[in-house]
Amino acid sequence: MDRFEKRLLATASRVSDALDDQLASQRRQGEISRPERLMSAMRHGALNGGKRLRPFLVLETAALFGVSENEAMPAALAVECVHCYSLIHDDLPAMDDDDLRRGQPTVHKAFDEATAILAGDGLLTLAFELLGDDECHHNAAIRCELVVELARSAGLGGMVGGQMLDLQASVQPPNDAAIRTLQAMKTGALLRFACEAGAILGGAATAERAVLRAFGEKTGQAFQLADDILDVVSSDEAMGKRVGKDVAMGKGTLVATLGLEGARQTAERLVEEADALLDGFGDRADVLKSCARYIVSRNQ
Ligand code: IPE
Ligand code: IPE
Ligand code: MG
Ligand code: MG
Ligand code: MG
Repeated sequence: MDRFEKRLLATASRVSDALDDQLASQRRQGEISRPERLMSAMRHGALNGGKRLRPFLVLETAALFGVSENEAMPAALAVECVHCYSLIHDDLPAMDDDDLRRGQPTVHKAFDEATAILAGDGLLTLAFELLGDDECHHNAAIRCELVVELARSAGLGGMVGGQMLDLQASVQPPNDAAIRTLQAMKTGALLRFACEAGAILGGAATAERAVLRAFGEKTGQAFQLADDILDVVSSDEAMGKRVGKDVAMGKGTLVATLGLEGARQTAERLVEEADALLDGFGDRADVLKSCARYIVSRNQ
């Protein structure tokens, strides 16, 4: 394991601990009760491993603007909650119909479909509570900006919209441009938010914030490309989820249109472009550059 992977692993463990606290039996202010079964399902979907790449990106981009890990943690947890919710719903029988996630039974298998739907809903709403809470940032305008940006990246014109296009793509094979749009939405938008959130928290200048946003878009594209490549070349054991599903379900992916080698070259080019965007930050951006590289070289 190289230095970057050690850092990612250490951060992932702190993120999981902080998420564990949020999903404990202790009620948050104003809550009436925390139904045991729903909380268990939410914990199953959120505390079952995961690379924690999105919170890692929030924390590392925040650090670039002088925001400490503690200060950035609520925003980091918020994006991970949205991500975990998206996975729970993505695995449902009506969507990808998967029984394995992060090496364990998917939430609807471990519980039932209705509980899995509610667990996703619970994580999605918790995300916005975390962002809106005073603890996220003392400045209400900044909290508001985070709320709006996360909603945009998760909703109709972002992840949820992308999932709709993904479902339609199984019926009618899309062309390259349509696949890029679909991927920028279903996966890229949340990664873009993860990279921009640090800049928002740190009150970055417009130009620097735009750079982080562009970096998030490139790494987001590279991320889904890597996921699609791994779906062809990796194993259930290594990934902790079923592979080979994209071909089986006739999903429109760039691996299907460009071939494996073409997809790899495209991913490599995207990482180089993402790297170059950060040159202005000098060696302060080294961790983020390593992260972009990891995203396409990972084997899980
Ligand atoms: C998987 O995301 C789903 C996609 C968006 C392709 P990750 O590979 O980040 O999943 P975890 O969080 O590490 O399990
Ligand atoms: C999922 O893409 C993107 C989400 C919004 C969750 P995939 O369907 O390819 O993700 P995996 O392969 O199941 O993790
Ligand atoms: Mg899917
Ligand atoms: Mg899936
Ligand atoms: Mg996939």
